[in-house]
Amino acid sequence: MEMTPYQLANNTPLTLSPNFILPEDKRPNLSEIINHEVPRELCQKVLAVVTEFFQLPPEERAQYLTKDHSKQVKVFNYYQKYEGIGKVTMWSETFSHPWHPTENFTHLLPTNPPQYREVFAEYARAIGVLFDRLLSLISRGLGLDKDCLKRRIGEKPGLHTIANYYPACPDPELTMGLPDHNDLGSIAVLLQVEGVTGLQVIKDGKWLTVDPVPDAFVINLADQTQVLSNGKFKSIGHRAVTKKLLPRLSLGMLYTPSEDAVIGPIEDLINEEHFPKYRNYIFKEYMEEFYWQEGKRRRVPIYGYY
Ligand code: OGA
Ligand code: NI
Repeated sequence: MEMTPYQLANNTPLTLSPNFILPEDKRPNLSEIINHEVPRELCQKVLAVVTEFFQLPPEERAQYLTKDHSKQVKVFNYYQKYEGIGKVTMWSETFSHPWHPTENFTHLLPTNPPQYREVFAEYARAIGVLFDRLLSLISRGLGLDKDCLKRRIGEKPGLHTIANYYPACPDPELTMGLPDHNDLGSIAVLLQVEGVTGLQVIKDGKWLTVDPVPDAFVINLADQTQVLSNGKFKSIGHRAVTKKLLPRLSLGMLYTPSEDAVIGPIEDLINEEHFPKYRNYIFKEYMEEFYWQEGKRRRVPIYGYY
């Protein structure tokens, strides 16, 4: 039966009857830039198991609460410190663990939901392939050989997952899900649940909302990519706001240089016209400085429950 939009809006489930369907070459092509090759079902599955984890009773997640920075698998809350005010806890809860090499930590991952380990391992494999593609594309975009960035990031990159759960918030005007920050490492691949906005990026002093695009990842370039590219690629300032009616989940896969990697503008990008904009440093130095600025310039973890 053909329906009018009015009838359609009042009928569930929503399906398009043939009178709404455009010829193929006239369709809006909303997914034309989505070519990452990570299967949609896998993305949906990983978001589902992580959501289930956050919906477990708090006592179950409490086993992962720790003050020990070196713990591989941990639950924590971010906070921000403001002069004269002190610590303000963010309206979110974070679950963090490595994503590679899986044999080192899989036995520490949740057994509830029961599919967590298996689904996560499959997702990590797919994202590993995506990172390799991103690193070679960025290298080539800079006019360098395709292995250049990966080589500079080092033999033992830090490969961590950050799952952020933002409960529905009674007053989003009074708090923040994550404060304004830049990511510390080199690249982050972020997957957001569809239909709930929250991520914002800063451009020309204004906060812009990054709506989740079905099937798409958000690729955040972080501080070390800015330095290695001598400023050609910018590390993006971003934050997450909360929603009154809906909880939100995002799953970030991070790629961070080896602690001993020497980070600085790649030599081939430096010449008489292009002076280095940053000095060389050992990545560990940068991390120590980052933690030294605890909760001020950027966010850092605290190990508490709200
Ligand atoms: C992060 C982050 C944004 C989001 O974990 O570093 O920026 O949308 N997350 O949750
Ligand atoms: Ni971030």
